[in-house]
Amino acid sequence: MKKTIGVLTGGGDCPGLNSVLYGILLKAMDNKHTVIGIEKGWKGYLQNLTRELEITKLDDLHTIGGTILYTSRTNPYKEAKRIKDPTERQRQIEITAKKMASQFKTLGIDALIAIGGDDTLGVAAAMHQYAGAKIVGVPKTIDNDLSSTDYTFGFWSAIQLASNTMDNITTTSRSHQRIFVVEVMGRDAGWLTLVSGISTGADIILIPERPFDFETDIVNVLKERVQAERKHHIIACSEGAVPTKESLKRDFKTITAETIEKLPKDDFGNPLLSKLNMSKIIVRELSLRDDLKTFFRKYQAEFEVRDVVLGHTMRAGTPSSFDRILGLRLGAKAAQLVQEDRYGLMVCLHGENIETVTLTAGAKKKLVPLDSDLLELRDLITRVKCESRL
Ligand code: F6P
Repeated sequence: MKKTIGVLTGGGDCPGLNSVLYGILLKAMDNKHTVIGIEKGWKGYLQNLTRELEITKLDDLHTIGGTILYTSRTNPYKEAKRIKDPTERQRQIEITAKKMASQFKTLGIDALIAIGGDDTLGVAAAMHQYAGAKIVGVPKTIDNDLSSTDYTFGFWSAIQLASNTMDNITTTSRSHQRIFVVEVMGRDAGWLTLVSGISTGADIILIPERPFDFETDIVNVLKERVQAERKHHIIACSEGAVPTKESLKRDFKTITAETIEKLPKDDFGNPLLSKLNMSKIIVRELSLRDDLKTFFRKYQAEFEVRDVVLGHTMRAGTPSSFDRILGLRLGAKAAQLVQEDRYGLMVCLHGENIETVTLTAGAKKKLVPLDSDLLELRDLITRVKCESRL
């Protein structure tokens, strides 16, 4: 049976979104389905912002970065989630889910493919759970922090962009004998910082999963490195990295616990970390350390600290080949599920294969496990680069 499939992209943009769209379109064309693009994520879904996507007008769409559908961080459950009483909150969430599901009629769609991270997929999961909406999810985020897929598309493109910049910064850091604090995206999970940091040989890597001690993890490491005749230093700092409570109280002069707690939040309650900039805070704190300056002088080392915030440059540009292929495969599989009338599922990568999990499982977070071999590698690299070369 011919179907009309709605598709939307929500949350931050990400290299590979258009590749997923092209994968959906290829499969839909093969099965003679119509694809309606819903613009601006859940915002456009509620406002009926649609246009038909015709594959013949979109040659090579999978090679182009960003999303032709635009995106937003609109959360339809925002009001319901604010309700304090748990029973009433749940009731309102269910009412909203049903209202959202009834929007299919207005949009003229039989099924929906939602492409997004845990926030976007969480909205989709509730629509399926409480209203039986015919939805399929596709996991997206440069952060790679979704639990049921080996990788999210966009991750390796972002890693390459971050690694290129960090490699470049290393040469200027070496030339000036400076300390560079490079802030890498990744709100809750440190995958981006850990992988790009290790791949470019960052000397210190700070991630959200393991709060850092300013004195032990930064100041002492810098001192040991200077003693071991290292003259330039790269600190890769995740935007979500935070100091331990003790360190915050003991070592920080420019922020307090309140500064972090009081950060403004987006529609989904995520703190706007771009308003914090941990890299700038670390630079300010290091610059206030006269003891460190004296120590550097004693070893004839320059003491100049700079920050670089990679920010949205990490989500920019065209997807890597890996992400183009992954996006195409995920998109094609999502459209195949619609063809087979299988809903409430998220497509995912398991090993070499594109498989499915439930939307509810798919919307869960994946943080860096504290026993990860990547963390062990990080610690070994930091340690060996504090050793004397004599
Ligand atoms: O969720 C992906 C992400 O790139 C995070 O790493 C980052 O914290 C956030 O988006 C930034 O979002 P925005 O583009 O809304 O500032």
